Amino acid sequence: MATEPEQVQCPVRADFDPLDPAFLEDPYAVLASLPVSEEPVFYAPALDYYVVTRYADVEAVFLDPHSYSAATAQLPLVPLVPAAREILAAGGHRPQPSMVSLDPPAHTRLRRPTSRAFTPRRVAAMEAQIRATVDELLDAVDPAAPFDLVAALTFPLPASIVFSFMGVPEDDRARLKEWCGHRATLAWGRPAPDEQVEHAESMAAYRGYLRELVAAKADARGDDYASALLAIHDEDPEALTHEEIASILFSLSFAGHETTNNLIGNLVRRLLEDRSRWEAIVADPSLIPGAVDETLRFDTSVPVWRRVTTRPVTLGGVDLPEGAKLFLWLAATGRDGAVFPDPDRFDPQREGAHHHLAFGKGIHYCAGASLGKLEARLALEGLTGRFPGLRLVEGRPMPFHPNISFRGPLQLWVQA
Ligand code: HEM
Repeated sequence: MATEPEQVQCPVRADFDPLDPAFLEDPYAVLASLPVSEEPVFYAPALDYYVVTRYADVEAVFLDPHSYSAATAQLPLVPLVPAAREILAAGGHRPQPSMVSLDPPAHTRLRRPTSRAFTPRRVAAMEAQIRATVDELLDAVDPAAPFDLVAALTFPLPASIVFSFMGVPEDDRARLKEWCGHRATLAWGRPAPDEQVEHAESMAAYRGYLRELVAAKADARGDDYASALLAIHDEDPEALTHEEIASILFSLSFAGHETTNNLIGNLVRRLLEDRSRWEAIVADPSLIPGAVDETLRFDTSVPVWRRVTTRPVTLGGVDLPEGAKLFLWLAATGRDGAVFPDPDRFDPQREGAHHHLAFGKGIHYCAGASLGKLEARLALEGLTGRFPGLRLVEGRPMPFHPNISFRGPLQLWVQA
């Protein structure tokens, strides 16, 4: 008869803080300093989360939504002050504000129409528009001077693509971008009480805006995602309400934006860091899709996702109680040598890089994975074609936003 592995008490790492400046600068150096092969799961009191580092454990969590609820996925990392909570509640922003935080059957109710309207045809049809947007953004660059690639390309590209995909009028996009910034800090950062109130106010405005957008689209349909969801609503208004459509748009407006901005930033950074990588891609653009997957493995743009246990479980040899909040360190799973040989080496030609968990797995698997990868590929094709001699500018800062889940350079100074 098989014997159960011996249970150990959960190790505690009092100094583990993913919002610490040293961690934000180089989380992989922190990872390398931890004894994760002996302690694959540990408790971080600075967060009140259990950190899960091993690929197999994170994958098991994603594949078992009954034991691991998604309810913490967007939970503010710090408890909110009552004033911020009241503003959010009045604005219809619940603690599980959208599908990525919901468990079945509530999740299924939103996910099904999301996937139905997000057809491969609709994504493939975006290719020409993405190429044209890349060209337009690069046309605006002065190649004679150093420029910030984030401002020039990686930020505006996915924002413009996802907002036009959703059907957001051009004039409203700047506001929406600003609200998305508040959302990142509110749920994944550590805002002070007065900042929480400001973020909560913009969240209420953001949700109000999306409700109005759905109402306006209901009377003036277009060839866009919001209208495709409204067509599903028409078939059976009880199965997908206007409020639920606004919630799906809330998911997409954020998920389709910062994730991809950061992916392109990380991709270009990792290629330029070692010129031979960049030159190999310039010489052979067929390496680009592999480089995108390798970036998602090696330096993903969503390094952490969260779950909470619904019952007592044993994970990574550690007993966890019901209600244990889990910090699924996706970035660490990409460096797991049991799955990826020589994991700290960046290799665009690595076989099996696409087995990364950067898009999650199971019922919440990223709805926009193919769109995000398409945008990254076309951005890099445009960039290598236009500026084959591109290089990083020495001595410029490369700051990162202080939050746990969305990582990419806030500025990336390059010279054509
Ligand atoms: C390109 C980089 C991207 C990364 C690394 C990424 C990563 C993720 C991750 C980790 C999850 C959670 C998975 C889970 O809980 O199991 C997720 C969910 C999701 N993503 Fe993405 N994403 C990206 C791009 C996009 C884009 C472009 C869109 C849409 C336009 C999108 C839409 C969504 C949605 C709607 C969900 C929620 C799915 C659900 O709860 O069923 N993502 N993504």
